[in-house]
Amino acid sequence: MPTKVILDVDTGTDDAVALMTAALSPDLELIGATSVNGNTGVEYTTENTLRVFDWIGRPEIPVFRGCDRPLVRSQADLGMAAVIHKNLLDLPPASHGATLRPQHAVDWLIDTYLASDGDIVLCPVGPLTNIAMAIQKDPRILEAIPEIVLMGGAHQMGNRTHSAEFNFLLDPEAARVVVNCGRPIRMVPLDATHRAMLSTQDAQHLRELGTPAGEAAARFVLQRIAGYEATQPILHRSGVAPIHDALAVCAIIDPTILTTDFIPVDVEVNAELSVGRTVCDFRTRPDKPANVHFAIDADEPKFVRMLLEILGRTA
Ligand code: BDR
Ligand code: CA
Repeated sequence: MPTKVILDVDTGTDDAVALMTAALSPDLELIGATSVNGNTGVEYTTENTLRVFDWIGRPEIPVFRGCDRPLVRSQADLGMAAVIHKNLLDLPPASHGATLRPQHAVDWLIDTYLASDGDIVLCPVGPLTNIAMAIQKDPRILEAIPEIVLMGGAHQMGNRTHSAEFNFLLDPEAARVVVNCGRPIRMVPLDATHRAMLSTQDAQHLRELGTPAGEAAARFVLQRIAGYEATQPILHRSGVAPIHDALAVCAIIDPTILTTDFIPVDVEVNAELSVGRTVCDFRTRPDKPANVHFAIDADEPKFVRMLLEILGRTA
């Protein structure tokens, strides 16, 4: 039986690869996608999500538009992310029937979880605004969420600031609500996503698959590599880029792709210099009980193999 999953996305080039992977994997049943403000405005992240499903021949997967700003903060400066993602993905507008559903993403999440058998994995790969909002609006959904597998956070090194990863920085209060929600959480932070990069050669192999998903993924990987080289070159490597969000989806399909530590994790919301920082306690005798399976490493060859296998499929 495929694992049921909902993706919450701020599509985005790496979100797009995550969406295609979830939609085409025979091991997953993608119930729907919810969009959120993040890499760009929610009107664009929603449009991009529709474009992705339409392009790969899965226009029936429902898409719900979510929050257009963080829980309590004003709109952040998206600077660097905009260079890597641009507003609109390099895909044509939907023409095969992908259409936005009228319900708000937060309400759909609540209704869907309350009506479920407690078997839908939640996979947020953008700022956690929709998820925190849904938890606050109807906390009964918590017991219906078997696991949250999220891309976000960082221990060793931030990306948007020295201390913070982009998704957590954009809405730190929401991230704090989610990591403290009491449900099982697997966190895929930069520490893991920077251990599993794709190269220009991998992009070429994706293109050679000859499928719509392979072609789109090749474009996005190359766009990401160029964006990283222009804005935040990867230390000790060139011609590569992390495809963060797709790693979270692959971790649902095959948990052995990650090496995790079960530790106490929280999110800094008040600091002057380090707002959005993921606060990890790796001590052997921490003050608080562990709440997060925090990924510290990832298997790059397995990640590349999985993407080539799944994105070589058609709907
Ligand atoms: C995260 O930020 C976004 O730019 C990416 O889509 C990913 O979810 C990485 O920090
Ligand atoms: Ca994202």
